[in-house]
Amino acid sequence: MQPDSANSAPLSRPVHGGIKEEELRALGLRMEDCLDFSASVSPLGAPEGVQEAIAAVDLAAYPDPHCLALTEAAADHHAVDGVTADNVIVGNGSTEIIHLLTRAYMEERLGGCSASALLLTPTYGEYDGAVRISGGQAHTLPATRNEGGFTWDTAAAERLISQHRPALTFVCNPNNPTGALMAPEELRALAESAQSIGGLLVVDEAYINLSDRWMEGSAVGMAASLGSVVALRSMTKDYALTALRLGYAVAAPPVIARLGALQPDWSVNGLAQAAGMVALAADGYLDRARETVAASRDRVVERLGALGIRCYPTAANFVLAPVGDAAGLRDRLARRGLFVRDCTSFGLPDCIRIGLRPVDDCIRLTDAIAELLNDTKPA
Ligand SMILES: Cc1ncc(COP(=O)(O)O)c(C=O)c1O
Repeated sequence: MQPDSANSAPLSRPVHGGIKEEELRALGLRMEDCLDFSASVSPLGAPEGVQEAIAAVDLAAYPDPHCLALTEAAADHHAVDGVTADNVIVGNGSTEIIHLLTRAYMEERLGGCSASALLLTPTYGEYDGAVRISGGQAHTLPATRNEGGFTWDTAAAERLISQHRPALTFVCNPNNPTGALMAPEELRALAESAQSIGGLLVVDEAYINLSDRWMEGSAVGMAASLGSVVALRSMTKDYALTALRLGYAVAAPPVIARLGALQPDWSVNGLAQAAGMVALAADGYLDRARETVAASRDRVVERLGALGIRCYPTAANFVLAPVGDAAGLRDRLARRGLFVRDCTSFGLPDCIRIGLRPVDDCIRLTDAIAELLNDTKPA
């Protein structure tokens, strides 16, 4: 596939997973009767103690606009990588930080960079949405797809960085929706390219904590030591704080200060801050979540394989499965209260993305897929 540099599409909101009330009403379903495989969050639910911490929050008090305690706790969490509180900003989900980044660096440019971003696609739609809202141009480098998965030519990405001089280069690692994890040496090469033009490499690690390869793959150390890397983490996903929304970025102090100057006060509410403190202190939680993800992944891959569906290798807590008519299968599963992500909006109309829930839920889903595929087989 050839790289393209498009920018003429009108503004529209990116498509996301999650179950929408409007669809539930149309289908006559209740949320409590449904299982959501379309948003990929920790399969364990929120850590123990989170509900109590939320209940103890004084609803009549403004939250700390600087999220000081949580900023320090997040820095401590990454102390081994040399992260200090000056390297951290907390946001209302990592999505808020993506928008702060594009506002900061599309509207008011870095040195010799252009008001543009390089996106390695297919990927999370919010990058493109945020770049466009901020008036920037999105250049893309599509992945090569084959049976073994999706790969990017990082040398081509480096060439695009020198050619277009994007203020921001986004890499989602592991990538949504492919599950591919970029090797540290490739990330480093992209960081150096970004640095050479005075731009930033943004590594979105929303799914890395639930990956088997969470330690080797992370760019947090680079973000703390190089001025040109920003690492994003999603506590929404890591700790299933989905209704609260919480995320943070690790970067050099001048980048953090610039993002902080644009962030509205109190955008991270008091319940989310209290929950985040408990989550970061929850010993063993992420290990248990990773074990559950790995067990569910193996079952889903095996059971879909038995149906002739070969899932792509994944380093994330979701599985990308080529099923043919993704939209049709997604809708038929939804009628049964089972919601998966149709990947048409990613340019993959033949694939669904399955967020890994506990094993029993995954068995229910794969049983339903087997029945539906059986129903559509010619007699
Ligand atoms: C790659 C990626 N980054 C960030 C997010 C958003 O996470 P948050 O809830 O922290 O805003 C998502 C949500 O789907 C995602 O897929």
